[in-house]
Formats: sequence, structure tokens, C-alpha cells
Amino acid sequence: MKIWIGCDHAGYERKQEVIAMLNARNIEVKDCGCNGERVDYPLIAKVVGKAVAANPGDRGILICGTGIGMSIAANKIRGVRASVCADAFSTKYTRLHNDANIMCMGARTLGGGVALELVEIFLDTPFEGGRHEARVHMITELEQEW
Ligand code: RB5
Repeated sequence: MKIWIGCDHAGYERKQEVIAMLNARNIEVKDCGCNGERVDYPLIAKVVGKAVAANPGDRGILICGTGIGMSIAANKIRGVRASVCADAFSTKYTRLHNDANIMCMGARTLGGGVALELVEIFLDTPFEGGRHEARVHMITELEQEW
């Protein structure tokens, strides 16, 4: 599993912290920018979203001021299930029940310690499958309808 990671200017410092943590865990990381410069978050969400959609099994991490803009943009891409992750319970259950493949976090809403812990949960929690499989499939079907 590779991690595709991206941020806008608001999320740059937090992204560097997350990359350092992923490196310490020997997880392959693809950094899709930005490098601290001012950038419109949909551009970065598009790059990470397309990469995750094209590489099933990989995951994405997107960081902006709130995580919300990144999630709205990434969820426009077929195959992406992006969730704003701001607490441990939601982060765990968006993996267990929604098979979320991208986590979005707010650098202005979460402290660094919390963010890194949420990344651990997102990476280490499997999809539960079972009755949730059909529901996730229904989301995929919605993508074809609209
Ligand atoms: C940038 O100022 C900010 O709007 C962006 O990082 C994000 O919070 C949008 O959702």
C-alpha cells in the first residue's frame, strides 16, 4: 500500500509531519505537493484523488485548513471515498464501514499529535466488508448514474 499525500499552503507543515511519521513506518509515500507555496486545494485533491482511484489498495491523505474543501473536491472523482477525519471514532468507522480510501484533515482544526494518531488509525483499520460491501457498492453505482 502506497500513500499519496497532498496539501495546500494551509496544510504544508502538517503534511511534513505526517510524511516523517510515514517514513518512520517504512511506508512508501508519493508527495503530490504543494511545497509550501499558495495553491488552490482542488488542484491537489485532483492529483491525489486520481492516483488513489487508479491504484486500488493505495490510500490518500489530504490536508488543508479544515479538510473540508479537499474532501468535497476529492469526492468528485470516481472511485474516491474521502472522509474528513477529526476524531478517532469517525476515522475508525469510515474505514470499517465506508472503506474510505482518502482521509482529509484540517491543519487549522487539529493539533499535530491528534492528526498523527488519526493517520495511524486510518492506516491500521481494515474494511469490515459483509453488509457494508453492498452499501459501498451502491456508492459506486451512484457515480455511474450522475
Ligand atoms: C485556505 O485558506 C483554505 O480555504 C483551505 O485550506 C481549506 O480550509 C478549504 O477548505
